[in-house]
Amino acid sequence: MGMRKEVILITGAAGELGQALINQLADEGRSNIVALDVKPIPIPIQERCELAIPGDILDERLFSRLISEYAIPAIYHFAALLSTRAEFTPEAAHRVNVDGTMNLLKLAADQSGWLGEPVKFVFPSSVAVFGLPDLATKAKEGALKEYQWLEPTTMYGCNKLYCEQLGRYYAHNYRQLAADQHRGGVDFRSLRFPGLISAFTLPTGGTSDYASEMIHAAAKGEPYRCFVRPDTRIPFMAMPDAIKALLDLSAAPAENLKSYVYSVTAFNPSAEEIAGIVRRHFPDAEITFQPDERRQAIVDSWPEDQDDTWARRDWNWQPAYDLDRAFDEYLVPNIKAHYHRE
Ligand code: SER
Repeated sequence: MGMRKEVILITGAAGELGQALINQLADEGRSNIVALDVKPIPIPIQERCELAIPGDILDERLFSRLISEYAIPAIYHFAALLSTRAEFTPEAAHRVNVDGTMNLLKLAADQSGWLGEPVKFVFPSSVAVFGLPDLATKAKEGALKEYQWLEPTTMYGCNKLYCEQLGRYYAHNYRQLAADQHRGGVDFRSLRFPGLISAFTLPTGGTSDYASEMIHAAAKGEPYRCFVRPDTRIPFMAMPDAIKALLDLSAAPAENLKSYVYSVTAFNPSAEEIAGIVRRHFPDAEITFQPDERRQAIVDSWPEDQDDTWARRDWNWQPAYDLDRAFDEYLVPNIKAHYHRE
């Protein structure tokens, strides 16, 4: 099908992961990107793409239009309602997070039929798929392996956990009774990210957002009231490592991948430790703690760390940024430049 241009489809392109991945791919000279989001995609990001379209992943007509013009051998599906936001509109979150993901998996399966090769589908799952019953168990269990404590308390966590399974289904069992079946149409690969911290963007509607908000508020010279207790501990990662993980997993030879889902992580400071580092870099930072009981309960159900042995073993995962390097070399210099503060 040489008539249609080959593109990489990125959904959630206006979000944190979307923007960071588009910048990275464009820096590498890969600008054959079709970017999709319901929210306005910032103009500098649009300029780095072949096409940027406003649109809803629940709108199947949009996909018909897309596939008439483009061949899509790879999809990075980032669009989602995050864990805090999803609790206000759980049914809408389910539609976007689950039905939307299924629409894209179907698109991938159809595309692979046209292209005659597997379509790569890269999906960010989350630490939110885990659900620990209480703080004593959280402390006792430490770093969780991929298969432990999969009892999420949030709609978002349930959605991500189920979508990992949906991806596995489309990769290995899709229409398994059909006479015309062709297997292996969707090459589904997913990552369970910890909280992500970017120097350039803020997350919207997540529950790990306190780390990013604390740093960005300090850089802007604004006071910050942290919505979790000082002793709250969950894993985090700097955005460049998240992008590296997505691209490394995407590039790994299929025969090396023993799992359809991999935990990745980099560091796991408590909220108080994050505040301490922020104060060291921004001595005027005004950080106070005023826990929101219900958001606190969500992070308390998330593990204090993720075990990323599988990712290290199967595709040589290794974060480039530990906590100090993330602050010293990535977050602080870029955030200061971003807000013009020296
Ligand atoms: N960072 C996300 C959230 O807080 C978890 O994936 O919702």
